[in-house]
This record gives sequence, structure tokens and C-alpha cells, in this order.
Amino acid sequence: MDTHVETGDDGIDRAWWNEAVVYQIYPRSFNDSDGDGVGDLSGIVENVEYLDEVGIDAVWLSPVYESPGEDNGYDISDYRAIDNQYGEMADWETLLAELHDRDMRLIMDLVINHTADEHEWFQRSRAGEEPYDDYYIWREGNPEEPPNNWESIFGGPAWSYDAQREAWYLHVFDESQPDLNWRNPDVRREITDVIRWWHKKGTDGFRIDAASHISKTDGLPDGDPDTHPTGIAHYSHGPRLDAYLDELHERTLGDGNVMTVAEMGHTTIEQATEYVAREGNGLDTVFQFDHVGIGDSPEDLFDPEASDEWDLTALKAIVTRQQTEIPWPAPFLGNHDLPRAVSLFGDDEQYHRESATLLATFLLTLRGTPFVYQGEEIGMTNVTFERLEEVEDVMTVSHVEEHDAEGVADSFEDVKGMVNYRSRDHSRTPMQWTDGTNAGFTEGDPWLKLNDNYREINVEAARADSNSVLDHYRDLIDLRHEWDVLVYGDYELLLPDHEQLYAYTRTLGEERALIVLNWSAEPATFESPVPTHDVDPVAGNYMDVPSAPDGTTFRPYEAAIYRD
Ligand code: NOJ
Repeated sequence: MDTHVETGDDGIDRAWWNEAVVYQIYPRSFNDSDGDGVGDLSGIVENVEYLDEVGIDAVWLSPVYESPGEDNGYDISDYRAIDNQYGEMADWETLLAELHDRDMRLIMDLVINHTADEHEWFQRSRAGEEPYDDYYIWREGNPEEPPNNWESIFGGPAWSYDAQREAWYLHVFDESQPDLNWRNPDVRREITDVIRWWHKKGTDGFRIDAASHISKTDGLPDGDPDTHPTGIAHYSHGPRLDAYLDELHERTLGDGNVMTVAEMGHTTIEQATEYVAREGNGLDTVFQFDHVGIGDSPEDLFDPEASDEWDLTALKAIVTRQQTEIPWPAPFLGNHDLPRAVSLFGDDEQYHRESATLLATFLLTLRGTPFVYQGEEIGMTNVTFERLEEVEDVMTVSHVEEHDAEGVADSFEDVKGMVNYRSRDHSRTPMQWTDGTNAGFTEGDPWLKLNDNYREINVEAARADSNSVLDHYRDLIDLRHEWDVLVYGDYELLLPDHEQLYAYTRTLGEERALIVLNWSAEPATFESPVPTHDVDPVAGNYMDVPSAPDGTTFRPYEAAIYRD
């Protein structure tokens, strides 16, 4: 696979994506250029200069393909067309050219576990038309009794009965997202063609959506009813996943300078390690989710009562394993499926700036290819949903309906806790550009409510403030670009049991970086377990960086980087 890796004079194996900081754009919420309330490709083009200013090297673009939009584009009805909400193919080409002109790359989202039910393949499949009849996972049987007890990741049964074909079809996500039958070689050929097509158009990389789900246990047996969602063990990491990835690699992904990052939910650190370590499957890195799932209840992701407060020592243990075991990790703190990072891991009120910049320091001093989610660079926060009508996310709605079916939700008050705890809409509220109308996102009615704090938290205000969260992201990205230690250096955790301080070193040859983060609202004194007499302060998120870390009391959410 490593045709694109070059070994430098210094002996380091370098690929463009090793040294890249990637920025995820959720196009619906980034910038609307035509006033219909929905972000679009031209809106991104208008802001390519901004992306350049932030200093990022590549954009991961969430889906812009033709789609009925039940899951905001993660339900594709034509893999080779741009949805007209987002523009036309020519707009995509302009975006690619504008990014390439500024030496930025473009990573496309590859949603290949399922299609939309409106995809022509599904329409022909449900009509029983050959060869499409076997493109999806169908089972005949009693319309009252699904073929097995599997539950969907979005809540409710993973099977829906189709009256036209008079059979059940499998969907591990929403019922509008039928799973493709990867056992069928024709399906795999179709997917290969799609990847080739986008690669030929100049795409620099792919983020493979739901990669862990493409192979299912033979015979589709019942799942253990005590696991949640039931059946997950049979529709994650199935017996042919390796073979499918190898085949994709041989046919497409191994061809050229393409980067691949697989989204692997429900995947342990051991499994993620194996996928990245195994030569020949074309995966350069994997999103592993243990750190962002910290404290989540295994029974019910949406139940705040059932989840635990997370604690720093547990977070350190998880991240340390990701950093030291996965051959090339992909650190991230947020994405379009998660609450906002500063609300989850920081203090989004009293120490908003401090904790957002601490998180920036953390993300950008970890090993691997870091991914910044849009808005994180200005410290965007969770919002409060006051009514169910304000919620658009299909997953949240499905979970609310599941609770409703049990007779819990007579009013929004009954489900307000779960919605506000977990809704994926937290990260999808429109990007906050200015303090003007609709935060400068649109001249129309935004498709999703804005966070009121756009009056204070916005790009324009951040640009005017030399101590803003944005400014820290820019400086830290520059620092990472200049300093190989932050990209390639070995990571070593210090003080694993300290409940406030997260400290670690990164070492490359003779050079070492020391990072000290006071991940708490109380001062904390750093007693260094490693010699620090020769270290120089490099960066920090308070005006002055303490010059000698050992014995220093770090202020609330203070973050500092030293060079040894
Ligand atoms: C993972 C994506 O990140 C999420 O947004 C989507 O709903 C599911 N996969 C299904 O495609």
C-alpha cells in the first residue's frame, strides 16, 4: 500500500497525510451562498481562504452526493451526482481546484455500507429485478416477525418489511438506509467503480463511513438480547471484513497517493490496531471512539442518567493506549455525530477560552493525523433544544420515538434531558461567522437553529482578538508544521494517576517536547517525574508561559508546551 510513503534522509517514513492537519466540513452547516438556509459548495469556496488562514492541509467533506437527506447525505441516491442543495459537479470541481491551488487536499466521504432507499439499485431490488434483486440483504417470511432480533444503531428493529417485494430488508441505521449485500461480487464491483471514478476526478483521500459494518455473520443469527444494540456483534467486524478491505485496496485504494481513514464505531483499540497494522488493506488510519464514548452507558447512549461522569485518569488511559498501540492514530475530539468538544471535555462557560485552547493544545500535540471539526477552532459549544421541532437529527428522533413507544415521552420535558445530552444536532448548528443576522451563515432561514452565543463566539470576533481560540489553533498548527517531534515523536504519559494534570512527552531522536495540561478548574502543581532543567517554553494558553514547569502551579485549564 505504501506507494506514497517516502523515507527522508532522517530515516522518517513520510506521507502527506502524516503531516497533515485535517479539517472536517459538514457542508449543510458551513456556509450558505444562495440564501436557501442550507450550506453549499459555493459557500465553502467562498471560505477557502479562511481554511488556508487556519492553516489546515486537507478538508474531509461530509457527503454532498445526491440524497433524499433523511440522514443529511449519509443516505446516497446517486454516488456520481452532487445534490442540487449543495450545487453542481462544476462547484465541486471549483472547490477541488481552489483547495489544490492553495496546497490543500480533499478527502471525500465514502458511504458504502448502505445506500438511500431512493437509490435506483434499491428501487430495482425491491421490484425483484435482476441483477439488483441481490444487491441488498433480503429475507422472506412472516410480515409480523422480523428474520432476527437485531436492533438498529439508531434505535428500533434493524429490519423493515417491504410490501412491494413482500420481504424484509436489513438496515443497521435508519430504515431509509438499506444495507448493501457485500457478499455479492456485483455490489463490490459497483463500489470499486465509484471509488475509481472519484479518484480519477482528483480526490486525495477517502473517509470510509461505517467501515466496520460491511460484513455480517453468516446466517444472520439472533444476537444476545443483553447486548445493545442487539445484534451489533453480528453486524460489526464480520468474517469477511478483511477480505473486502483487501479487495478494495487491490482494486482501487492502493493505487497512488490516496489517503484512507476508516470510521470504525464499535471497534476496540486492539481491533483498530490490527486494521492499521495489517499491510495490504489500504487503511492508513482509523477513527477509534473509546475516548469520546467515555462515560457512555452501554445500554442506552441517549440516557444521561445511565451514563457516568468521565474522569481524567480514565481518559488518559484510553488516549495513551490509542497513542502507543495504534500504529498511526487519527486523534479527534469532535465530529458531526458528537456533542461539541468544549462542552464534552471542557468548561464551556467560565473557562470557555482556556478550556477550548487547552483542547487545541491537546489535539495538536498528539501523534497521528489530527482532525479538527468545523467550529472547534472558534470554540463552538452545545446548544439547548427547547422543543422537539428544533431537532432535525434522524438518530435523535428515532431514540425519542423508541422511548415514546414505551410511553415515556408525553411532553418534550420528558425527553429534553436525553435530547440535550446526546443529540447529534449540537455539532450541526450553523457555523458562526459574524455577530450579524444568522451569524453570517445564511441570508435565508437556517435549516437548524443557531446557537445564540454566536454574538460572542464567531470567526469575525476571533480574527479581531489576538488571544482568541482561533489564534491558538493557527499558532499550534504552525508549530506542528515546523516541529516534526509533534508529528512523529513517540508519546509517553507522565503522572497517570494525577486527577487534574495530563502531562506527556513526545520524543524524536534527541529532541523532546513536554506538554503539561491542567485539565481542571482548580490550580494544580506539576511535580515533574522527568528532568526539566533544560526545557524552554514554546507555547501556552495564558499570556505568559511558566518558564520552569517543575514545581509550578498551573492555572485553571492552563496548557503549556516545552522544548527539551
Ligand atoms: C456514520 C456517520 O458519521 C453518521 O453521521 C451516519 O449517520 C452513519 N454513519 C450512517 O451512515
